[in-house]
Amino acid sequence: MDYNNILVEKEDHLAVITINRPKALNALNDDTLTEIDKAFTELMEDGQTRVVIFTGAEKAFVAGADIKELMEADGEKAKVISSKGNTLFRLIESSDLVSIAAVNGFALGGGCELAMACDIRVASEKAKLGQPEVNLGLIPGYGGTQRLTRLVGKGKAKELIFTADMVDAKDALKMGLVEKVVDPDKLMEKAKKMANKIIAKGPVAVKLAKQAINFGSETSLPDGIAFEIEKFGQVCSTEDKNEGTQAFLEKRAPEFKAK
Ligand code: CAA
Repeated sequence: MDYNNILVEKEDHLAVITINRPKALNALNDDTLTEIDKAFTELMEDGQTRVVIFTGAEKAFVAGADIKELMEADGEKAKVISSKGNTLFRLIESSDLVSIAAVNGFALGGGCELAMACDIRVASEKAKLGQPEVNLGLIPGYGGTQRLTRLVGKGKAKELIFTADMVDAKDALKMGLVEKVVDPDKLMEKAKKMANKIIAKGPVAVKLAKQAINFGSETSLPDGIAFEIEKFGQVCSTEDKNEGTQAFLEKRAPEFKAK
């Protein structure tokens, strides 16, 4: 399928979605959100893709929601915009696909929020992240007040959101906003290497581990542990668990079948 604002590449179990509106620093206008939703839904349903890397064309990852569209929005329209972005980012976060944000440049506002909805963030040394909405008289609207707090803690989230300060990749790493910082020229290579490492593992195990981590991070510890026990039982009923444990004991590489 052809898109105007994104590029989608598929390579076996890996897909790369590149946000491609460089003239607006890849800002997420309504059409771009619709296209990401369509592309991601197709990947979820293709029965083949396991990891999706999100990145941005040229100098930005994503410089935010589209400020022109926000300027024209009244309170009611703004709720529709926020709800659309939040629904899409929740879909990415809760999907069985693993998502990696390869943060190549500015990840601001909605861009930082897209990165935070991904499972893992790999940043180029050139990346700059932040939630600068208060500069515009706005607040984050695609999950930033919620996910930034969960990732970096309440005090740091308040500091970043109230001051609108951008942080570089090194500081983002220190505060836990990104998981890895790499040479800009090697960003996609490193992100793909991580993706392929994940793809080589037991697919059902990765999927259930993601479900358990997500569930646990949104509930009490006892409920999270009860969920883990359920998922542990489920994963131990798979062919892949038999293959993985047997291969270990036979000192050979496992051949997982996603069953
Ligand atoms: N929306 C629409 N257009 C944007 C944009 C955005 N978020 N960010 C940048 N652009 C456009 C600029 O208007 C400019 O367009 P023109 O060439 O037509 O003038 C073009 O992209 C290039 O931008 P700059 O000339 O500003 O580039 P720069 O290198 O000088 O600065 C920047 C880069 C610091 C990222 C700056 O562009 C900037 O501050 N952008 C806005 C960042 C921001 O405030 N994001 C939050 C948006 S609100 C939001 O996201 C709410 C939410 O949570 C849902």
